[in-house]
Amino acid sequence: MALSWLEIDLGALVHNLDQAAARLRPNIGILAVVKSDAYGHGMVPVARTLQDHGVGFFGVSKFWEARELREQGIARPILVLVGIEPEDLDEALRLEIRPALFRLDHARAISRAAPRLGRPARVHLKVDTGMGRLGVPVDQFADFLDQLSALPGLEIEGVCSHFAVADEADKSYSGEQLERFRDALRMLAERGIRPRYAHVANSAGLLDLPQAHYELVRPGLMLYGSQPSPDLKAPAELQPVMTFKSRVVQIKEVPPGRSIGYGRTYVTQSTARIATIPVGYDDGYPRLLSNQAEVLIGGRRVPIVGRVSMNLITADVTRLPEARADDEVVLLGRQGSERIRAEELAALSRTISYEIYCLIGRHRFKHFLPAPGPRGTCTEVDALSPMRS
Ligand SMILES: Cc1ncc(COP(=O)(O)O)c(C=O)c1O
Repeated sequence: MALSWLEIDLGALVHNLDQAAARLRPNIGILAVVKSDAYGHGMVPVARTLQDHGVGFFGVSKFWEARELREQGIARPILVLVGIEPEDLDEALRLEIRPALFRLDHARAISRAAPRLGRPARVHLKVDTGMGRLGVPVDQFADFLDQLSALPGLEIEGVCSHFAVADEADKSYSGEQLERFRDALRMLAERGIRPRYAHVANSAGLLDLPQAHYELVRPGLMLYGSQPSPDLKAPAELQPVMTFKSRVVQIKEVPPGRSIGYGRTYVTQSTARIATIPVGYDDGYPRLLSNQAEVLIGGRRVPIVGRVSMNLITADVTRLPEARADDEVVLLGRQGSERIRAEELAALSRTISYEIYCLIGRHRFKHFLPAPGPRGTCTEVDALSPMRS
């Protein structure tokens, strides 16, 4: 029996997908971002569920993620958001995996690889409209397109960009980015290039910037049940998908004046009952939560006392006299009417919910609760989603 495990509620995932779909005009597709093991939720079961519920496109950051999706039966188009290295191109193109394209040398390699396939290679051009990270800067885009036009064998299926601050209440910078994206679309049109898909909207763009929806939207975080930030004007009713559970392994009564854990950072003021829980930073539970976070036992919040160590934490259950060894502990998620959200753990550990999901999501024991609809699955999960380091 696992001492701690994740429950991944695929029904909640479908609920969140419905929330996303309800905000879209007809004929706008969803490219679900399932990179980084679906933000720790288990890429393959998540993608299968989304595919069963009509998602038409998937986004990952690495080629091997896309290949794994294909091997596990994901038939829909897949975009590798960070591009594909030339040595992987033949396999990628054969598997109908599309690269994001932002480098001319990669474009040349794709052009050379396409004839071996006997059909044009579909690519999505990545434009940097102000994120300052990946993509062709808009002021170099016309030149980039002119050089591409000399390369046969490429089908420009998509053109995309990424927002830097779509999650903030002030949308002026996102407006500037959209203006630059429109410039890029004009440059394409002037050259007679009409990509089937333009896409820029992440979760925040999907929720708060309907003018940025184009033909595809690219949500990640909201599918997993978190708002991108508390500042959105149009938040959705989302259900967190991930629950992190464990069990108390020991409870003991400790006299006043005793220190708890490494560094002796917590000393009991009076007689206390201390519950030890077999979870630590090796499970992705941040050490910054030492003496900060709470966990749920018996449907009540109890404080973590002392340091988070590699494999253990300690909670003060003095005010929960009914607590016993083997009681279920919820570190993230709901128990009874209480809930601990990723946002709460993120604020306490000075990060964002995305990182909390990715860290805790590395946990190797995932139990998937079935989704309603076309094909409910309830699977013990290691087999489907092997852990990657
Ligand atoms: C290029 C790109 N598109 C879309 C997303 C999804 O963003 P979000 O999870 O905020 O919806 C990401 C996530 O990092 C991304 O890198």
